[in-house]
Amino acid sequence: MHIWGLREMLLEVEGLEIRYGRVPAVRDLTFGIAEGEFVCFVGPNGVGKSTTTLAVAGVVQPAKGSIRFDGHPLAGTLIETIVSKGIALVPEGRRIFGRMSVRENLVVASGVRGGLGRKRAVLDRILELFPILRQRFESPAGFLSGGEQQQLAIARALLTEPKLLVVDEPSLGLAPKYVELVYETFSRIRSEGVTLLIVEQSVRRALKYADRICFMQSGRIVLEGNTPDLAQRTDLELVYFGEGKRD
Ligand SMILES: Nc1ncnc2c1ncn2[C@@H]1O[C@H](COP(=O)(O)OP(=O)(O)OP(=O)(O)O)[C@@H](O)[C@H]1O
Ligand SMILES: [Mg+2]
Repeated sequence: MHIWGLREMLLEVEGLEIRYGRVPAVRDLTFGIAEGEFVCFVGPNGVGKSTTTLAVAGVVQPAKGSIRFDGHPLAGTLIETIVSKGIALVPEGRRIFGRMSVRENLVVASGVRGGLGRKRAVLDRILELFPILRQRFESPAGFLSGGEQQQLAIARALLTEPKLLVVDEPSLGLAPKYVELVYETFSRIRSEGVTLLIVEQSVRRALKYADRICFMQSGRIVLEGNTPDLAQRTDLELVYFGEGKRD
């Protein structure tokens, strides 16, 4: 039995500490994400949201604590193996290849498992989610708008057919119409069975789309709850900014 109850946990993080040098960026971080959940991590700048995503994707190694995915510990696992186990990360800043075409970004830069027929089917399915990418298939990715580049980054992550998709601040710098589009796409991806961990600065947006929200402060979770329960609270702004830290 898990400490979070009987529901099957896809991701279990316990007592996690990540350090860059002496100061911990994340400390004593414990949370679980059940299969099929859409969880948002929110919090102001520098509280450890990106670090959490990097740890889950195996990019940074814990100084303490454990991460279990699909029942197995991730400690010491190579990033490629973590990807093949089913975790895909869209990092902050998207990291697409601007001089390569959309097609090259999708096909060359990602490894879909299986034969050609299967690869085509996965790609077709993803291009259905992002019609603009089909239209711009042969254009250099650097010519796409920020919102289109974010769609490309998400599409590329989906090509690995993840069980868990982790996206760091997908709405950063995007026009509102793209933000809505990206979040509607997350909802569709989730309805197809993909579990989501999304970092978001807007509590309002997290309340609108997520099943559960984790509020981070100083490297740990200070409040977490199901969205309908949190929506009743009147102190979320205080929680978000950290009590006592406001002007
Ligand atoms: N590569 C690094 N080297 C040293 N310190 C780092 C590094 N990356 C992050 N930090 C520090 O770790 C802490 C957490 O950073 P992190 O990027 O995880 O926060 P964040 O919540 O994602 O912030 P933001 O909202 O600005 O993206 C911060 O104090 C930051 O300065
Ligand atoms: Mg960040």
